[in-house]
Amino acid sequence: MKNTPSKFGKTPHQPSLWTRADALKVHADDPTTTQPLVSANFPVLSDEVFIWDTMPLRDIDGNITSVDGWSVIFILTADRHPNDPQYLDQNGNYDVIRDWNDRHGRAKMYYWFSRTGKDWKLGGRVMAEGVSPTVREWAGTPILLNEQGEVDLYYTAVTPGATIVKVRGRVVTTEHGVSLVGFEKVKPLFEADGKMYQTEAQNAFWGFRDPWPFRDPKDGKLYMLFEGNVAGERGSHKVGNAEIGDVPPGYEEVGNSRFQTACVGIAVARDEDGDDWEMLPPLLTAVGVNDQTERPHFVFQDGKYYLFTISHTFTYADGVTGPDGVYGFVADSLFGPYVPLNGSGLVLGNPSSQPFQTYSHCVMPNGLVTSFIDSVPTDDTGTQIRIGGTEAPTVGIKIKGQQTFVVAEYDYGYIPPMLDVTLK
Ligand code: FRU
Repeated sequence: MKNTPSKFGKTPHQPSLWTRADALKVHADDPTTTQPLVSANFPVLSDEVFIWDTMPLRDIDGNITSVDGWSVIFILTADRHPNDPQYLDQNGNYDVIRDWNDRHGRAKMYYWFSRTGKDWKLGGRVMAEGVSPTVREWAGTPILLNEQGEVDLYYTAVTPGATIVKVRGRVVTTEHGVSLVGFEKVKPLFEADGKMYQTEAQNAFWGFRDPWPFRDPKDGKLYMLFEGNVAGERGSHKVGNAEIGDVPPGYEEVGNSRFQTACVGIAVARDEDGDDWEMLPPLLTAVGVNDQTERPHFVFQDGKYYLFTISHTFTYADGVTGPDGVYGFVADSLFGPYVPLNGSGLVLGNPSSQPFQTYSHCVMPNGLVTSFIDSVPTDDTGTQIRIGGTEAPTVGIKIKGQQTFVVAEYDYGYIPPMLDVTLK
């Protein structure tokens, strides 16, 4: 991709490439990059709703923040329908798998709160029905702005289209709990442009979502990561030597991998409030490797930029594969070049015996990784499964230079605050 001239200033980078050669180094079941087995006896947060993508309240620098001693998480949520005739099978039994698989179409943003960083209590919906301009409220990031408790929630308004939006509200605490107020006016920020980021018109399976705003610790400016696909008509992308990388003899064949075109997008704010954004070329592309690099986020550590993103087995291209989980890349400066962590990119994948046990990992700056339970086998053959729709055990990883190591496992949904803000 060519850099496009920027009104904001010169664009300083070429995207870094996650190559097919890098992906050939991905190995499931390496204990240092594999999530411990999740037991099928997991507790559920709620029998009434499914929950999945978890977005802890944080400050603009990435620190997980509690308010007046209360932790707050925003979560994508959908009702469970155990009694809805639409979700009964031929025998009249609740088809929980179908209900779970349909959840994306009715995803809404809810919040939960806790005194302990676990044992979450349901607060309610963030926005009243009718506030969000589209049917689906997809993932994003809540940012605590100040000691008045103001919060900017960046998220994705989907169907029709996919627009990065924000809505401002306030967190209010009492001795007994937390409520969110405001969140009444949704402001559209930007959509895919078709020049750097693929549009729906170019590909009906395009991805454009999951905003993650942050302040660059080095230049102090406000930026935002998001998930995208590289612009261009579906099928028109080239998987050349650069995308293939340095592969052994016999691995030059790329099959239909031109259909996999994920990228991690970045935008820069033109104003201090983050109301006016300009998209820049992607930080990282995975053309010929993978079609989805979802929920990208950073950990800033040791003067380095650790870029994490979640991906799936089913979105890998022909000839490369890897587990569902979180992948990572590291650079010395914001615009790269980025190098895959652990050589391959894999940081925390599901074990091959339970390939769908968890997803939507978020690596926090304290090395804790939160995710949700998708489904866990309940018999040895893996044909019977239990659907999750609840918080997974938190995993601890250690990040050291260009490597990461699984080092600990904690309680279900354990998301402790890194700092507490006393509201004025
Ligand atoms: C990850 C994800 C996000 C998206 C949401 C939709 O689990 O696919 O990328 O915003 O779920 O439900």
